[in-house]
Amino acid sequence: MGLEKENILIVDDDIHILELLQRHLQALNYHVYKAVSVKQALYVLHDSAIDLLITDIQMPEIDGLQLLKYTAEHYPEIPKLVITGYPSVDDAMSVIKTGATDYLTKPFTKEELKQAVNRSLEAAKKTKQTQQKKPLITTGYGQMIGQSVAFKKVTQIIERVKDNKATVLIEGESGTGKELVARAIHFSGKFAKQPFIAVNCGAIPENLLESELFGYTKGAFTGANENKNGFFQAANNGTLFLDEIGNASTAVQAKLLRALQEKEITKVGSQKAEKVDLRIIAATNNNLQEDIANKTFREDLYYRLTVVQINVPPLRERKSDIPLLVEQFLKKYGVEYKDRLLQITDNALKMLQRYHWQGNIRELENVIQRAVIMSDGIIDTKDFPDYLKYKIEFPDASFTSLQQMEKEYILKVLAATNNNKTKAAEILQIDRKTLRQKLK
Ligand SMILES: Nc1ncnc2c1ncn2[C@@H]1O[C@H](COP(=O)(O)OP(=O)(O)OP(=O)(O)O)[C@@H](O)[C@H]1O
Ligand SMILES: [Mg+2]
Repeated sequence: MGLEKENILIVDDDIHILELLQRHLQALNYHVYKAVSVKQALYVLHDSAIDLLITDIQMPEIDGLQLLKYTAEHYPEIPKLVITGYPSVDDAMSVIKTGATDYLTKPFTKEELKQAVNRSLEAAKKTKQTQQKKPLITTGYGQMIGQSVAFKKVTQIIERVKDNKATVLIEGESGTGKELVARAIHFSGKFAKQPFIAVNCGAIPENLLESELFGYTKGAFTGANENKNGFFQAANNGTLFLDEIGNASTAVQAKLLRALQEKEITKVGSQKAEKVDLRIIAATNNNLQEDIANKTFREDLYYRLTVVQINVPPLRERKSDIPLLVEQFLKKYGVEYKDRLLQITDNALKMLQRYHWQGNIRELENVIQRAVIMSDGIIDTKDFPDYLKYKIEFPDASFTSLQQMEKEYILKVLAATNNNKTKAAEILQIDRKTLRQKLK
């Protein structure tokens, strides 16, 4: 066995077994995480890099089979070793179906455990080696869920930018996951161990934003009792995430431009420039092009920021991801509020896919959270708020009235004939008088 300690998560409702396993595994130099329930195990899986899952099958509330299934879907690379007290043929069959790598029956010896653990970890290493070429898990990326074409476009760009320091501008409607994209870029790339600092430019009062970003020197303004670093210095070598960049004042924009161009900043109250080396990711749900036209956003800064541009699609353009997202939120809130995994009817799912999600994924998550609280069993349309039932999307938002169509068409013909009404009337096969009336 090498020097690196693998992380093993053990799940059993029997605390004695947990402790026995822990002792054995620690003696074998593994790092052990314990969970007494599936619910607790889900949190550990989410927060830690687990190399092997060892779980009991029979447990109250959610049983081990569900945990195995969940792990197979969401963490397919983690090998799964099952420990059970009542081996029946049916049990064994279900366990094998979940893709568990091994099976150990209680009672077992320390040696049997050691060998089973070794076999599972080795098997996982082998599959990892053969699968290494596969860059993405098909149902998501980091904490982001999705497999639609629109979503994959986003993850492809993330793959390209994660390991370099090119400035990225993330655009998208509210609640589409812009911040999650920024985090995915940082935490999946080679600067993941460096700081990731998120600043909401809309939440900091305008007069404070500059000193918060760049720091200040003692005496720079009343209350500046000491020299202080800003977010730029804090994020040095890592990523500075400037959220709601459209809200930065023109003074801050000028300083940001300089920071991007010269890679240096100046504290408020200081003359001395300091070098910084970091990646800037900015996000906005404003239309910056419009802001530029209105002279509230600097065009030169815009072009500095958009070295790489990511448009996070609204949920209505990635409807095929809705079932996946719903499943994820059902798991999250089912475990949180009801201690089990809830189901949803096809009708309810269809309603969610028809709705025009103004608030995007955040709104969808809220709806599911509420439905889980309201529902006693399988979630159905009755568990959704009323507004969801009425605001069903029209098949095509670009449909307009006949009158409007007629007007547009007449103007088009006129333009094509250089405003020659006789020719236009000929093409339209109406007399000139009718044309004049219509134009009125
Ligand atoms: N692909 C995804 N999979 C799962 N959850 C997601 C995904 N995208 C976003 N979310 C969730 O949706 C919520 C909104 O995401 P986030 O805060 O990143 O959006 P945003 O675009 O920054 O929103 P805003 O414009 O309001 O700041 C968060 O709870 C986030 O975890
Ligand atoms: Mg945000």
